[in-house]
Amino acid sequence: MNAQPATALRAEWIDIGQLDDIPRQGARTVKTPGGDIAIFRTMDDQIFALWDRCPHKGGPLSQGIVHGHAITCPLHNWVISLENGEAQGHDSGCVHRFRVKIEAGRVLLDGAACSANAA
Ligand code: FES
Repeated sequence: MNAQPATALRAEWIDIGQLDDIPRQGARTVKTPGGDIAIFRTMDDQIFALWDRCPHKGGPLSQGIVHGHAITCPLHNWVISLENGEAQGHDSGCVHRFRVKIEAGRVLLDGAACSANAA
């Protein structure tokens, strides 16, 4: 059995900008080959990253309304949890979530996001 080098197991983080570039209760998008990823900032300065596609009919979640740790889609008002990507209430569906973190005021997105595909 071949062992993987330790560096191959380590997560690669991509610096996507300053936390302060994202308004509280707002979002910005990051373009990747697989589709746009929406980065959300909540009122309590937590950040979350999801595909910018609503699980209902593909609405742009980055243009929705952030409240608590959820986003309301601008098209038909589905509410999606930022914590797990799942539709809330009576709606069902899920949007993929990516790892994201803040270090020294910079937002770092899991490098695996850039090889993922929204389709
Ligand atoms: S596309 Fe988001 S609620 Fe319909």
